[in-house]
Amino acid sequence: MTNGLDDVVAAETVLSDVDGLGGNLTIRGHSLPALAGHWNYPAVVALLFDGFFENLPADEELGARIGEARAEVFRRIEPVLPALSSLDVYGGMRAGMAILPDGESLDDALRLVAAPAVLTPALLRARRGEPAMAPDANLGHAADMLRMLTGAPASPALAKALDTYLVTVCDHGLNASTFATRVVASTQAGLTSSVLGGLGALKGPLHGGAPGPVIEMLDAIAAHGDAATWLRDQLSRGERIMGFGHRIYRVRDPRADVLKSVVRQLGRSGDGADRLVFAEMVEKTALEVLRVAKPSRSIQTNVEFYTALLLEAVGFPAEAFSCVFATGRVSGWVAHAREQQINGRLMRPQSRYVGSIPDKVA
Ligand code: ACO
Repeated sequence: MTNGLDDVVAAETVLSDVDGLGGNLTIRGHSLPALAGHWNYPAVVALLFDGFFENLPADEELGARIGEARAEVFRRIEPVLPALSSLDVYGGMRAGMAILPDGESLDDALRLVAAPAVLTPALLRARRGEPAMAPDANLGHAADMLRMLTGAPASPALAKALDTYLVTVCDHGLNASTFATRVVASTQAGLTSSVLGGLGALKGPLHGGAPGPVIEMLDAIAAHGDAATWLRDQLSRGERIMGFGHRIYRVRDPRADVLKSVVRQLGRSGDGADRLVFAEMVEKTALEVLRVAKPSRSIQTNVEFYTALLLEAVGFPAEAFSCVFATGRVSGWVAHAREQQINGRLMRPQSRYVGSIPDKVA
């Protein structure tokens, strides 16, 4: 038995492969650097969905269909937005997605892909007391998400940065949320039920909930003034350093470098440059502190560290970072759910009973 299922192969997939020793991520035959910054998000959705849906349109038409799906999702959720807004942003997004139809068609899939990009800005605006903005189906997915957040057209640089982020996190092997999605899909439940499984798993701070705490950490270190002391104190209290460490990668997470270069490009044109210099200092110090504290384990920077900086730079508050992660990852979940429904069997592992034995009845 393995506590944490390390090295257990629980599915065969054509979708993505994580090479933890080499630090490479392959998505349907393409390396991450060949996709991120070069393909837009709808093109990557088309890549992931290929073979899993009948009549899948080419990527440009799929982009238009995702735009129409954003408009349809908005019509469905607008009446319930006041109730959704009474929850935290992630809970509101999850509850909004739960009311979508639970089928297996391309339309069901596209509504799920569209939904976090519509719900996240609407819920953030509600928290500021501002009315939700309706989607513009003619805009790109990332550009429209930012426009719905701020109420003004997004600059091409910010839209491109967000689009690159969504592509970078679209899929990543059998991570906890994708595994949860596949377990639900293995029962032949619908796509919405399956994605809700993924949404539940993504929320935790050991998985997709890490980037918000990364911002809190950077702010706390800035206020403290001495990064090494702050980080050592954190470890001596038994706390983890957020944005570092990974179950599979023993080298630097390749997504971290992709996102860091996006943040650097944004810094050249705007005012995020000082924040990046500070974050790089914290990263370097954290790697050294971790190397000394955990010499037997290679703990490197993971995707969440530069996710936090990127999402902050494009204008999302930390409370919504996990929602934006879900906006990218939902396409991978849907593709994995379809792959499991089509090719897989019911997932039903065993547990080993270590509890007390009932008394024998005389
Ligand atoms: N800070 C401090 N210690 C760490 C960290 C960290 N970030 N990461 C691992 N460790 C230590 C653990 O304390 C443990 O030490 P011990 O053996 O002395 O008790 C050892 O490394 C192994 O810990 P596990 O949880 O078993 O290792 P795993 O490699 O499976 O952990 C995880 C992966 C959960 C991501 C971990 O690195 C972590 O908690 N990181 C911080 C949270 C984070 O950044 N999560 C986002 C991950 S990326 C993603 O999901 C998209």
